[in-house]
Parts: sequence; C-alpha cells; structure tokens
Amino acid sequence: MKTAGGSEAAKRRAGERAAEEVEDGFVVGLGTGSTTAHAIRALGRDVEAGLEIRGIPTSFQSRQLALEVGIPLTTLDAVDGVDLAIDGADQVVDDPDAGDDGALIKGGGAAHAREKLVDAAADRFVVVADPSKLAGRLERPVPVEVVPDAHTVVADRIRAFGGEPTLREAVEKDGPVVTDNGNIVLDCAFGAIEDPDGLAGSLSQIPGVLEHGLFVGLADVTYVGSEDGVERRVY
Ligand code: A5P
Repeated sequence: MKTAGGSEAAKRRAGERAAEEVEDGFVVGLGTGSTTAHAIRALGRDVEAGLEIRGIPTSFQSRQLALEVGIPLTTLDAVDGVDLAIDGADQVVDDPDAGDDGALIKGGGAAHAREKLVDAAADRFVVVADPSKLAGRLERPVPVEVVPDAHTVVADRIRAFGGEPTLREAVEKDGPVVTDNGNIVLDCAFGAIEDPDGLAGSLSQIPGVLEHGLFVGLADVTYVGSEDGVERRVY
C-alpha cells in the first residue's frame, strides 16, 4: 500500500540529487514509484545532453518512463554488474543509534521483487525519499509477493508468527492486484518490527513467497528531499 506521501517538490529534490551520482558509462538500476520517477526524468535529460548510460528497469512503470525519456535499456543478465541503483521506499528507519538504520519497507507499488533483485545487485544502492517516509522503527504492513495458489498457506504461516495478512485488492479491476510477475500480494501487519532482519529471514523461508518488502542492510545512502533542500543519510 502506498503512503499519501510528501510533496512533489520534496520528491523531485531527492530524485534529482540521486541522479547526480550517475556517471558516464554506468549501468543504472531504475526503481519504481513517484520519487524515483523524478530521478529517471533527470537521467533522461542527462542522456539527451550526452550522458551514456544503460538502465535496468524494475517494473513495467519504470520501463515505460525510461523509454519515454530516452534512456537506453538493458537487462540484468546482459551486463557484468550494476553500478548504481536508485529507488524509493515506503518507510525508512531513520535512527543512527539503531542497528537497523536505513532498513526499508518497499512494495507499496507491488514492484519489490524486481526492485530487490536490481537494488541488491548494485554496487551502490541510493534511496530517495521525502520526510513522510522516515520512522524510528518500521511499522507499516510488509508487502509479500506470493504465488497465487499458495496465498492461503502463506497467510497461515504468517499468522503463526504474529502477522495479520490482507490480500491486496485491485482498484479498477475485480479481484487482487496482480504483480508484473503474475503473482499476488499479501500486506502483512506486524506492528512495530523489533527485528527486521530476523523477520526478513522468516518470510523468505516460507514456500510460496516470491519476495517480501523488507530491505535490510542493502541501502548505502538515502537522499531525503524537503521543501528547501536535500539531506543525506549515509549507512
Ligand atoms: C514500489 O513497489 C515501491 O517499492 C516504491 O518504490 C515505493 O512505494 C516508493 O514509491 P513512491 O516514491 O511513489 O512513494
């Protein structure tokens, strides 16, 4: 589920600051969502001005936008590596004293499986956010992408370790949201998550789970856009 989110100006500042990290010759992971869209548009302008990069989209949405703004595209299996990935988040732990500072919940747009694949493959993973995404502790429901036939057994397993799963319903389609991979999504409420890494491991072990939206220990930096500037959090 998406947050109402911050202002477009804040998102734009974060996205455009992240795009400044991209250098000539880079392979760039192109995340999904409204904040990353600003980075993709900025990269499109840079490409038009002569920057040579190749992008790896993480969703139908980011692929469409990258094509629209003229970023040459490639795929994960056609490159030696990903230099940098830029991606948004639904919640970011913002507490330098916490062991999980920089841990994320993603998947509000149901794109977290491909996002994690690309973000984790990158030498550097740059998160773009506005202040509404920052929290002392992760507490939003965790999106879990599930093979359709497995949704009831996965839901039972999640309840067994204290979660409350809700099948994500589509808005302008009858039935559930179907991901770019043809699966469905359970949004799983756990309350405040004390141990994101432990929960991430438990979710990953459930048969039928393709991927969950806990991104722990992956981010290198977060750019937090605001009305008047950009703050940087380094992990
Ligand atoms: C996509 O599934 C998500 O992980 C997005 O990256 C996340 O929801 C952030 O999107 P916004 O920038 O639109 O808030």
